[in-house]
Amino acid sequence: METKNILGIDIGASGIKGAIVNLEKGELVTERVKLSTPKPATPDAVAEVVTQLVEKIGYDGELIGCGFPSIVRHGVAYSAANVDPAWVGTNIETLLTTALGKEVIAMNDADAAGLAEMRFGKGLGKDGTIILITIGSGLGSALFYNGHLIPNSEFGHLYLHGWVAEHYVSNTARKKYEMSWSGFGKRFNEYLLHIDRLFSPDMVILGGGISNEFKQFSDKINSGLNVTTAAMFNHSGIIGAALYAYEAKHGGL
Ligand code: BGC
Repeated sequence: METKNILGIDIGASGIKGAIVNLEKGELVTERVKLSTPKPATPDAVAEVVTQLVEKIGYDGELIGCGFPSIVRHGVAYSAANVDPAWVGTNIETLLTTALGKEVIAMNDADAAGLAEMRFGKGLGKDGTIILITIGSGLGSALFYNGHLIPNSEFGHLYLHGWVAEHYVSNTARKKYEMSWSGFGKRFNEYLLHIDRLFSPDMVILGGGISNEFKQFSDKINSGLNVTTAAMFNHSGIIGAALYAYEAKHGGL
């Protein structure tokens, strides 16, 4: 089979990361490069950093997949919880395709991470309801039923004790309220119980920056919940974005 190497980019509130991905193996074939997200993270400023990132990686392909931290429908951003409000209504695909001179296909960042985990990681071969939660600046989510993605689930914006969930229990909230791991774990457990009451998932996969710290708070998670950490940790957003772009253009691998 011809090798399919596509550049995946993961735009986050604090960093913009990218690498070329081998889609048959679901692996990075170049080092992951990370540049800081500009402040303010306006569309033009982000497009400029993405351009630098692509130059730095030295990608000569024509197609790029991009995860973005907002609701993304048909390439357009519909929310901006952790990026500049000017993104709302911006066509991410048009903006980046024009800046890069290469076709960019955009999706929600957590949906991208979930897709990679379903195809190559902990969700591989698993049916039923699977939810991936990314814990970072915000709380991202990806919802799958029998392997199918239901995009833009945005479970980080569910209400919990009158709070927007990601204001109560993201990494930003952990730092802001100086939570111990035990305190964070208790709050995260409440969040997972809420998700469980609503969706009865067969499995919850944790991704994003602080999923690496899961052992620090796993003792606070209710033993009745089937919770695991992502196999690809913070590479899954890059891998899933590349995969999605390829399949959007060429169909399934
Ligand atoms: C955004 C989501 C995003 C998540 C993780 C949330 O604030 O609303 O779209 O997936 O952060 O970046």
